[in-house]
Amino acid sequence: MYKKSIELLNTAVADELAAVHQYMYFHFHCDNQGFDLLAGLFKRSAIEEMLHVEKLADRILFLKGDVEMRAGEEVQIVHDVKAMLEMATASEEGAIKSYNLAANECSANADSATKKLFESLVDDEERHFSQFDSELENMTKFGDGYLALQSIERSKTLASGGGGQE
Ligand SMILES: [Fe+2]
Ligand SMILES: [Fe+2]
Repeated sequence: MYKKSIELLNTAVADELAAVHQYMYFHFHCDNQGFDLLAGLFKRSAIEEMLHVEKLADRILFLKGDVEMRAGEEVQIVHDVKAMLEMATASEEGAIKSYNLAANECSANADSATKKLFESLVDDEERHFSQFDSELENMTKFGDGYLALQSIERSKTLASGGGGQE
């Protein structure tokens, strides 16, 4: 009865797993380059996308389907911070669009609980989009100073005996 919902949910699982991997990768590289603010943002985002996988998985199992744990995309090798933020905003925009469409489809199939789940994900992805977009704007506004400031913060923390890790 809910076959289509299970399909939509599993497509979302694949996209979320790809986002978890990509954001973790960005986290490692921002951390390695000394950009703690962005490293922390990517880390928290990866964790939130993982929690999305859990919500989707719960619903799939409730509908008596099975969870396909396959990432929808390979991790892209991107080390430039601006390119990371551009990729992240594009990926959140894609998620917002596809979850809105999925919610509509669930509504047409009279599956209101799955529809609500997709709508709650839209709220989260819109927040993610706005966080990444603000950082992109800061970068444009402050230019090289934006990254320099993050590196200096790291040095200050290390010099004062604190850890640089998030
Ligand atoms: Fe997500
Ligand atoms: Fe997201």
